[in-house]
Amino acid sequence: MNETRTVVPARSLHGEITVPGDKSISHRSIMLGSLAQGTTRVHGFLHGEDNHATLKAFRAMGVTIEELADGDLRIEGKGLHGLTEPGDVIDCGNSGTTIRLMTGLLAGQTFFSVLTGDRYLRKRPMKRVLNPLSTMGAQIWGRGGGDLAPLAILGGPLKGTEYNSPISSAQVKSALLLAGLYADGPTTVREPHLSRDHSERMLRYFGADVRPFAGGVTVFPQPKLEGREVCVPGDISSAAFFMVAALIVPGAELLIRNVGVNPTRSGVIDILQAMGGSIELLNSRELSGEPVADLLVHGSRLKGIEIGGAVVPRAIDEFPVISVAACFAEGTTTIRDAKELRVKETDRIAAMVEELTTLGGRVEACEDGMVIGGVESLTGGTVKSHGDHRIAMSLAIAALRARNEVTIVDTACTATSFPDFWPLLAAIRV
Ligand code: S3P
Repeated sequence: MNETRTVVPARSLHGEITVPGDKSISHRSIMLGSLAQGTTRVHGFLHGEDNHATLKAFRAMGVTIEELADGDLRIEGKGLHGLTEPGDVIDCGNSGTTIRLMTGLLAGQTFFSVLTGDRYLRKRPMKRVLNPLSTMGAQIWGRGGGDLAPLAILGGPLKGTEYNSPISSAQVKSALLLAGLYADGPTTVREPHLSRDHSERMLRYFGADVRPFAGGVTVFPQPKLEGREVCVPGDISSAAFFMVAALIVPGAELLIRNVGVNPTRSGVIDILQAMGGSIELLNSRELSGEPVADLLVHGSRLKGIEIGGAVVPRAIDEFPVISVAACFAEGTTTIRDAKELRVKETDRIAAMVEELTTLGGRVEACEDGMVIGGVESLTGGTVKSHGDHRIAMSLAIAALRARNEVTIVDTACTATSFPDFWPLLAAIRV
C-alpha cells in the first residue's frame, strides 16, 4: 500500500480530543485474558493492526474473543494450560511486542508453533529474547543463527532463571515473565533502567505473584490468573504527537483526555516540560491499576536540553516526535543513550535525521542519538515514512510548522497504532 498524504502548515490548533487505547496494554489484555480463567472484558481496546495480530494469534490457539459493537472485547479465557496448537504459522505483522512476548509464552506450552512477521519485523533482533529464554531450557530456532524470524518454538518444561538484561526492554522482560509463569521456580529479570511495567501491573491485577524490587522484578510460577475487567487508558505514545503539535503551534490550546501517565511511560511529558513546554496534568486518577490524567497543552517557546539516562526507556517510542519538537527549540537538543532507536520498526535515528534534513532541519546523527539545532520553521518538501508509523506521524506534526506543504509518502503504516490519526489531526486545525 503506497498511500501518500500532504499536510499544510497550521495557523492555529484548538480543541479537545481523546486518543485511542494504549497499544502495549491492549496486547497484554489479550494475552492475560486468554490465559486467565473466566471472562475478561476489555474497554478501550486499541483496534490497530498490531493488536489485531495478537488477537488473531490467540484465536488461532483456540481462544474465543468476541469484538462487541462498542469496540470492547470479550475474551473467554482458557486457563494457563488451555491454549491449543495453532494450525498454521502465526503472522505477527509489524508487531515486535506480539512476536517477542509470544515467544516467551509459547516456550512453556506443550505444542509446536512458528511465528513470523512482515518484512520489517523479519529484520529485527530476536536473540535478545532467545538467549535468556534458552537459559530456561526453551527450544527456539530462527533464521540468521537464531536472531531473525520466522521463529520455530517447541514448547516444553522451563526452569526459573535470573537474568541481568544488558538493555532496558519491556519486551525482553515481559517475554521472560510470561515464560516464568510456566517455570519450575521463580524467574527474576534485572534491567539497567526500569522499562514500562505494564506486564507486571496487569499480571498482578489478574492475580499473579509478581514482586518488583529496585532494579528488577521476580515472577513466581503456577498462579491461577482470574479473568478481569480491563479499562485501557489512552496511549501516551499517540498523545505525544498531539502534545508536540500543540506546543509548536503558537497560540495553540489542546485538551487531551484520558491519557495513561504510568511513570515508566511518561518520560515524554518530563522531557517536553524541561524544554519549557506548558503541559498540565488534570484530573489524575487510576484505571485498572494504571495511572491516568487529562493533559492540557499550550503553545510554548521551547528551549534545547540534554536528554539521556533513565528517562530514555521512559520515552523510547516518543523520540521521533521529540526530535520534531527540538527542531523548533531555541538552542541545541542532544539525545544520548538511545541506541535502541536503531532497532525499532526502522532505524529511527537514521530515518528522522534524513527526513528532517530534507525539510530544512539542522539534525545530526550519532551512534546512540541525535543532535538537533533549533530553527524558526522548516521549509517543506517530500519525505518518506520508512514504513514506520511513528516516523509518518512525526513528519505530519513537523509539517504543521513548515513554510510550505509537506508530502509524506507511504502513510498507510499509521494504522499500525493509530488508525484515526489523520481525521483527528484535521479536526483540531482551525
Ligand atoms: C513495548 C516495548 C518497547 C516499545 C514498543 C512496545 C511493549 O520496546 O518500543 O513499542 O509493549 O512492551 P522494547 O521493549 O524493545 O524497548
